[in-house]
Amino acid sequence: MAEESGKKWVLMVTAQTPTNIAVIKYWGKRDEKLILPINDSISVTLDPSHLCTTTSVAVSPDFTHDRMWLNGKEISLSGGRYQNCLRELRARASEVEDEEKGIKITKKDWEKLHVHVASYNNFPTAAGLASSAAGFACLVFSLAKLMNVKEDQSKLSAIARQGSGSACRSLYGGFVKWIMGKEEDGSDSVAVQLADENHWDDLVIIIAVVSSRQKETSSTSGMLETVETSMLIQHRAKEVVPKRIIQMEEAIKNRDFPSFARLSCADSNQFHAVCLDTSPPIFYMNDTSHRIISCVEKWNRFEGTPQVAYTFDAGPNAVLISHNRKTAALLLQRLLFHFPPNSDTDLNSYVIGDKTILQDAGIQNMKDVEALAPPPEIKDNIPTQKYKGDVSYFICTKPGRGPVLLTDECQALLDPKTGLPK
Ligand code: DP6
Repeated sequence: MAEESGKKWVLMVTAQTPTNIAVIKYWGKRDEKLILPINDSISVTLDPSHLCTTTSVAVSPDFTHDRMWLNGKEISLSGGRYQNCLRELRARASEVEDEEKGIKITKKDWEKLHVHVASYNNFPTAAGLASSAAGFACLVFSLAKLMNVKEDQSKLSAIARQGSGSACRSLYGGFVKWIMGKEEDGSDSVAVQLADENHWDDLVIIIAVVSSRQKETSSTSGMLETVETSMLIQHRAKEVVPKRIIQMEEAIKNRDFPSFARLSCADSNQFHAVCLDTSPPIFYMNDTSHRIISCVEKWNRFEGTPQVAYTFDAGPNAVLISHNRKTAALLLQRLLFHFPPNSDTDLNSYVIGDKTILQDAGIQNMKDVEALAPPPEIKDNIPTQKYKGDVSYFICTKPGRGPVLLTDECQALLDPKTGLPK
């Protein structure tokens, strides 16, 4: 170890991990500690250029205890979920040698060495966009690299799962299934990739970040209350989801958008129905969420076949998946028509991510937004109402890749000499 080489050293790894959105939802645990779900779930990984977590992890004999900084602020690692991930990784760590730097860490050394972790989300944590999924996936992925853990991605997903259930699905890009598993120790409750991000690359995703004043129930406590009080959740987990999983896998395999959309919408709605069936009921969607659903439902009905799928997690934000760029542009026109920005908001900060969708929609400035005509499906329902300011902003994105290592040191969040945040 370092003492022997007589030289101070810091060994560091930086990685980037995407977030994911479930199209068949995970809701309800059969084991709270190991985080084992009551049903399988399926998700789409989102493009990390727009939504991701970057994490640097470092080890040095000079570190006195494990420390973590999230978005620049030190947070405690004492929570059970962090401790479980750290313990599982340390138990699988193997020898690391860097002759150039004079570093040799044996398997046993890892039991005593401490780590520093710095994590940063490229999107506002408060927006409620599955930051814990990307966060735990990135923590596990980067530490596994640093500690030379020789396990495949699926085994790593089972470790990330113990940080946050949905995190296990962020270990892969594209379309991912979390298999609930049967074993009591959770060893077969892992994520697997159904198809990579290139398999269905014409899908475009628009996220409406909905302004919310309400303090939301966390997923963890919400799903516990649902399992304890809802009868509907049993029917969902036993009868509904198993069939939907098979159909969804088939829809993804065949790039069958109408089936994909019908299943996604139905599953999101059923997830929110079991929340409502919880005692006391849990409301994650708000009026704006409901208005977005109506807008999409009306349009889909008018066209006779689904153009767009919607799905909502444990919050009011809408994740809208459109068949291709053309439908995404038409969707954005509709969204901007119904939900224009506040007068003091600039369009450039109202539609973020892949702005080329805005160009495709023929919208360059606020004048273009104001000039938008009501979509044909609502033409007869005059007067059409507008909900200015009810959406904070839109993110245009697409399905994306899984975790990657970042080798360029300027992307690291820790100083390579001190191991402290830059
Ligand atoms: C509605 O993974 O955040 O987003 O396992 O308790 O950390 P814990 O919960 P979490 O729950 C996610 C719930 C969901 C649906 C989903 O992502 O499948």
